[in-house]
Formats: sequence, C-alpha cells, structure tokens
Amino acid sequence: MTKKPSKIVRSIEVSAIKRFQILIEKEKGSISLAQGVPDFETPSFIKEKAKEAIDKGFASRYTKGWGIESLRQAIAEKMRKDNKIKAEPENVLLTHGAIEASMATLLALLDPEDEVIVLSPNYVSHINQIRIVRQGAMPSFVSLDEKENRWQLNPEKIESAVSKKTKAILFSNPSNPLGKVYSREELKAIAKIALKHNLFIIADEVYEYFVFDGKKHISIGSFPEAEDRTISIFSLSKSYSMTGWRIGYLVSDKKIVQEIFKIHDCLITCPVALSQYAALAAIKDGYKFIKKFKQNYERRRKIAIEILSRTDKLTLIKPEGTFYLFPKINLKMDDYNFSLRLLKEAKVGVVPGSAFGPGGKRHIRISFGGEEKKLKEGLERMVNYVKRL
Ligand SMILES: Cc1ncc(COP(=O)(O)O)c(C=O)c1O
Repeated sequence: MTKKPSKIVRSIEVSAIKRFQILIEKEKGSISLAQGVPDFETPSFIKEKAKEAIDKGFASRYTKGWGIESLRQAIAEKMRKDNKIKAEPENVLLTHGAIEASMATLLALLDPEDEVIVLSPNYVSHINQIRIVRQGAMPSFVSLDEKENRWQLNPEKIESAVSKKTKAILFSNPSNPLGKVYSREELKAIAKIALKHNLFIIADEVYEYFVFDGKKHISIGSFPEAEDRTISIFSLSKSYSMTGWRIGYLVSDKKIVQEIFKIHDCLITCPVALSQYAALAAIKDGYKFIKKFKQNYERRRKIAIEILSRTDKLTLIKPEGTFYLFPKINLKMDDYNFSLRLLKEAKVGVVPGSAFGPGGKRHIRISFGGEEKKLKEGLERMVNYVKRL
C-alpha cells in the first residue's frame, strides 16, 4: 500500500483564494477581483539596482541568514522613523516574504497544544499556518463586531477567549480583509490583555503605508509595555509593488529573533540575495513610489465605493486602509454559492468571506489592487448582476 502524507497535511486544504483563482482562470472572459496583487510595476530604479548587484556578483552566493548588514541597518532606521519601534540591526530578520516570517514565528513560539487567538475576519493563510503548528487544530477566532458602520474590537471577547493554553494573539493591521486600521485605544487594549496573560503579540503590518482619510497606522510594537513580546511583520510586496521578489522581514526582541532564526535557517537558509539588494534600494529611496501607489489606491477606493453604493444588496463598511472591500451580501444565499454564481453568471471573480474565518460569513472580499479599467468593469457587472437577483 502506498504511504500517505501526514495527518496534518491531509487535514488541511489549499486556501480558498488559491482555489478560486484557479476557477477564475478557467472561466473565459472573467475579471478577477480576487487576488491581492498590485498591478504596478516594481519601480525601475529598484530593478536597476538589482541588475547592478548581478553584474557585481553579489547575487551569486548565499548571504548571511538574517540578511545583508546594510539592509538590516536600513530597516532598523526605518523602524525607528516610520514605526517608532526601537530597533537595532540585531532586532531584524529578513525573510522570504511576510508569509515565511509568520510561519517561522509560529513554529518558533508554539508547542502543538498552545492556542492562538486570531482577530477575525483574518488573513486566510494564518489559519493553515496555525493548523500546521497545532497538528490540525484550529486557531481561537475572536470576531470583530460589525456595527455602527465600523468593525469594532471587543476586548471583553478577547479576554474570555484566553485560556491557560493561550500563547499569542495574532492580527493584521491594517486588516486584510477588512481594511480596518486599529486605533491607539484598540491596540492599547490588546497590549493590556497580552501583558496581563503573558502572551506574545504577532502583528502583521504588510499594508502599513496604505492608510486613507488622514488615518495613521500605529505599530503595537512601539508601545513600551508590548515591545519585548511583539513580533512585528512587514513586507516589501505591497509597499513597493514587489510581490514577485519575495522579501519581507520581522522585528522583535533580540532573543526572540534568535529563536525564530533557527526555524528560518531550516526553511530558507537566507533570503534571495538579489532581492535583498533590490529591497535596500527600495527602503532607502522608494518613498515617493509608496505615495504614488497610495494615491492610486485612494482613487480606486472612491470609484469602487461609488459603484457598490448603487445597490443595497451589498452593504459596505468603508475600508480605512489596504486595497480590499469586504461587503456584506444581503441575499438569500451563502457567500460561497454567491461567489460561485457571480463567477459563472456574471464572470466576476471574488473570494467568499467565510475563507477569512467564521466572522467572514455572508461577505465577499474584493481587491481594488488591480487595474482601474478592470476594477470598474468588474464592479459594474457585479452590481448589475445582484440587482437582477
Ligand atoms: C495580511 C497579509 N500578510 C502577509 C501577506 C503575504 O505577504 P508576502 O508577499 O510578503 O509573503 C499578505 C499577502 O497578501 C497579506 O495580505
């Protein structure tokens, strides 16, 4: 009899985003608003620096596992300036995207019996990452409350989800899929609970720069009471439109970084050398591109909100950040069936909200990271379709 893969692997499925992406690609003439990929090219000065690195032979060999010193240095400076996190190069670990940063963190911090509170609706991949570490067991989801036109954090709900086995609280800020930007009060409440129950805080901040309406992104790791227990995770994927370069990083207490490094070393040895030189250029000189991307997203958000407001069958809480919309569907079908029918009958691809944890039921996620013309057409098709239902 052929041997089977592990029980853990057999107990999980590839994320719904990936599964829907395959269905969307197969559907001729469809427009995908499913995947969170910016349509902008990586700025050319970044590519030039990468070419230079190849020519100088810098890209041919492994680098130090935690990343080249100049990049750790530049990130430490960026952390102090933009995130108000007290960081030295030793606090920084360069990773293969934010996805490796969160996987390595969870593997380093958790024993299989440990529980993780996930503020939900949440980033899809965190569910499988936690299940892999916990031998198949689900995270402890704490759903935000959708009320008064906002996604609200209820600290009492988090408190009541804490058990003797809870080891960490994980959330994304700004939130994928909600577009929520956590306020100082909300972050203080999370930090207070973490301190009281001695928990790690894992903060995924890959959309840190895409925050609208004059809102400010605050890093929970900048709070003195949270700095020694927080693992802050960042990425160049969205900030500089570099999803293909696979560069992210995490910042934490030096001792925690050393522990995570053991896992990172087993997973990837070192981040891609070429991408590290590209990242160095981006972090040093790329700010004006972030500003440009942000202005574009802000305009796309306005267009998207206007189109969705033409129907009351979709109710939307205005996203404060990211490039996602997470409307509720006021229809007599669940989000999964709706997403399938929308694809087949209106040729528009979205992601069913239940993929983002239990709190996502009866919602869909729409990305406005892609091309504007397609965004408009996709949303118009969607609105015309739901009006007919
Ligand atoms: C919240 C969140 N975290 C992490 C990632 C993964 O980012 P990376 O490309 O850096 O691995 C994404 C990508 O969509 C994301 O939305």
